[in-house]
Amino acid sequence: MALPPTVDELELDGDAVLLRVDFNVPLADGEVADDTRIRAALPTIAYLRERQCRVVVCSHLGRPKGEPRPDLSLEPAAARLAELLDAEIVFAHATVGEDVEQLARDLPPGGVMVVENLRFHPGEKSGDPAFGAALARLGRVYVNDAFGAMHRAHASISVVPGLMERAAIGFLVKREIEALSRLVEQPRRPFVAILGGAKVSDKIGVIESLARKSDVLLVGGAMANTFLAARGVAVGSSRVEKDKLLLARRVLERCEDRDVRVELPTDHVVARAVEADAETRTVEQVEDGWMSLDIGPATAERFAAEIARAGTVFWNGPLGVFELEPFSGGTRRVAEALAETEAFTVVGGGDSAAAMARFGVADRVDHVSTGGGASLEFVEGKELPGIKAIAATSRTGRP
Ligand code: 3PG
Repeated sequence: MALPPTVDELELDGDAVLLRVDFNVPLADGEVADDTRIRAALPTIAYLRERQCRVVVCSHLGRPKGEPRPDLSLEPAAARLAELLDAEIVFAHATVGEDVEQLARDLPPGGVMVVENLRFHPGEKSGDPAFGAALARLGRVYVNDAFGAMHRAHASISVVPGLMERAAIGFLVKREIEALSRLVEQPRRPFVAILGGAKVSDKIGVIESLARKSDVLLVGGAMANTFLAARGVAVGSSRVEKDKLLLARRVLERCEDRDVRVELPTDHVVARAVEADAETRTVEQVEDGWMSLDIGPATAERFAAEIARAGTVFWNGPLGVFELEPFSGGTRRVAEALAETEAFTVVGGGDSAAAMARFGVADRVDHVSTGGGASLEFVEGKELPGIKAIAATSRTGRP
């Protein structure tokens, strides 16, 4: 796709910039537990600071339903950002309003301020023009580097860019669009897609889209049980989405019509309970009373061989309950295969990204997307509201 204007195409001269980021990060004991998304925004923040801009950073965190919730304050994320920048930054305890505007005006050139969680206001999620206008008063220029939130038509994403003098995407969004576009537009073949995770229903859009675009679909995780059941294979007491069986059958038929090979697990690591110390077995047929909680070693090797032969690989969703050691083998093997292959490799979704980090191979793939839903919708071919809003304004301030 044609890229919307990027931050380095903007006319910038010490302007006040409203920077939308995705600091929707996990917190533990009041601190940021995983700062990947904060680090991902650093190149854009550094660029703006170098150009002496005053940077007003805004983000959502969690789903507070339009009212303040102290446990979802952005203050810990702001503190982590200050550490990473090794600079003092201002935290505004409100999101919009005259006091916040004054704090923004008082920032020195190169100064950074983080405002409170956008979703403490109902107008963010509803895309309220008045809330959008209040946000727009915090800067003259708008930059969106919140890839993980680009699929949300919320005020800070969809309304604000149209109200600003100039608007562009940041370096992270640019990198995400470039990497994900390589999957969607003319991927090097064979294109192998690996889908895991709990539910078929969460991912039906992307499954149907990959059933059109890929050459091989490798399916694991709990969703594989629904596909196995749709093929008439007994899955014991494994979780099956009974109301999605018809849908799964239709996807399998469609793949067959299009010569897309669908590979399902042929062996499983099973247990009677989802517990780290449960008795486990590796079986080809799952009996009643037992649940498939990971793909078995033979399936993992088969999947790894497909990945080794691929030209392009996209992976979304773990192949088993990888957080528990006895059921982590399949996800680990696939993560390692991704690290080893010569193919162009993209990982999307929080769980798969966490798995890459846990197995120490996150820096050995071509791209780990910071977006969960956003990367899936992009791969599905949907137009993301955040990209659309910037492309529609097309104002860089340059001739
Ligand atoms: C994400 O974590 O995927 C993004 O930050 C979007 O969050 P949301 O699903 O709550 O809109």
